[in-house]
Amino acid sequence: MTSLTTGSRTRTTFECASCGAPHPSWVGRCGTCGDWNALVEVPVIRSRGSGALTAASLGVGEVRPLSALAPDESSAVPTGMAEADRAFGGGLVPGSVTLLGGEPGVGKSTLTLQLAAARVRAGGRVLLVSAEESAGQVRLRAERLGAVHDDLWLAGDTSVEAIVAHVDKLQPDLLIVDSVQTVHLAAEGGTPGSVGQVRASAQRLVTEAKARSLATVLVGHVTKDGSLAGPKTLEHVVDTVAELTGDRHHALRMLRVVKHRFGPTDEIGLFAMDADGLQSVDDPSRLFLADRAPDVAGSVVLPALEGHRPLLLEVQALVVRSSTPHPRRSPQGLDGRRLALLLAVLERRAGIDPGALDVYATVVGGAQATEPAADLPLALAVVSAVVGRPLGSDTVALGEVGLGGELRQVTGTGRRLMEAARLGFRRAVVPASTPDPPDGIELVRAATLAEAVAAVGLLPAGGTC
Ligand code: TYD
Ligand code: MG
Repeated sequence: MTSLTTGSRTRTTFECASCGAPHPSWVGRCGTCGDWNALVEVPVIRSRGSGALTAASLGVGEVRPLSALAPDESSAVPTGMAEADRAFGGGLVPGSVTLLGGEPGVGKSTLTLQLAAARVRAGGRVLLVSAEESAGQVRLRAERLGAVHDDLWLAGDTSVEAIVAHVDKLQPDLLIVDSVQTVHLAAEGGTPGSVGQVRASAQRLVTEAKARSLATVLVGHVTKDGSLAGPKTLEHVVDTVAELTGDRHHALRMLRVVKHRFGPTDEIGLFAMDADGLQSVDDPSRLFLADRAPDVAGSVVLPALEGHRPLLLEVQALVVRSSTPHPRRSPQGLDGRRLALLLAVLERRAGIDPGALDVYATVVGGAQATEPAADLPLALAVVSAVVGRPLGSDTVALGEVGLGGELRQVTGTGRRLMEAARLGFRRAVVPASTPDPPDGIELVRAATLAEAVAAVGLLPAGGTC
């Protein structure tokens, strides 16, 4: 049978090792991400012409109406870690390949070892390829995590061919490769970690996963700007792309699925890293609010939505007289441009001038609140800090602030307010168009930021400061 590659010819092109952008010829600096000396050579296979190709030679399949097809049932196998299963939409699907990205030190190796242990405890067999750490290191960590088990197999190989040979022999039902940047395929040129090698290795592992119905997890390091170096180019090769994020100085870790061929995206799993590894966080709102001091000026609670999950976050602001001509704006876990915009809106639309003040704003607990719903609580926290008056410890606020000072509704308001009510909050400051709330919560509706400031008693209506 004729194949597409028969009579093909090979030429080379270039690709950026940092962002994967293609370049027809070598240049010193990538025009897409700006990295220097990052271009690597990659071979391109081109067909010589299509004249001789027929439907048969192309292996053209049958065309059928969608209505005649039966849907695939999801066959996700639970991993045994509740929060990971929540993020993955039930578990890992046999034959699917998941790319797990995250910054160095965030906990990818810990998470994958715990996933492996959970699967083994549920009767599975797991092959863990640890190309980054020595067998002794992995054993030590496994002892801490209670993951030592006869059916959890460890290989230190960096060659994909050797990994496939181990899979042949062991017949595991979960393969974990830590990391995809450290393995290489002998048949492909280039050094481990280069875009060509990472892609070729991943493609081979994907082929094996499909042929054997083997659930596979590939760990990938991200660069400091948040993109998956090398693995970024794998996002379309794999079935699922998951990211593990978190602040190193806080225990909270968030597992977020950003692409999923077999289930929902936007689901998150929440963990706390402690001395015994990653622990599921079942009630994150309670965790974030555990140490909240009541009735402190500059503190406002936001019922946030992470994926489909509501959680309550405390937004804090502190203002002090600035000692420099350029007052400091210091946002943590918040969008800095959004803070600047809100300060401008407060000045022009609500008569509150924080001009000569340093403004510090933060989300407690290492969490992030960069969604538009955080606008109103952040603005109210700043006003509360400026006037030195608390908002009331049973009050939450949510809403987007427009440049005209108007308040706009955000998605999932009902779910957010139900979570606030569950944790004992009784009052919510919301945009005027917000529909009726769930039981137990009273709404303070405001059409503008100035109205909201007056409605919660921070300033009299029309007042300035
Ligand atoms: P690790 O899984 O090695 O991160 P990655 O593979 O993403 O680089 O996690 C490293 C960090 O996690 C390290 O700073 C130590 C911490 N850690 C704990 O706090 N508790 C634990 O039980 C384990 C295993 C690690
Ligand atoms: Mg690691």
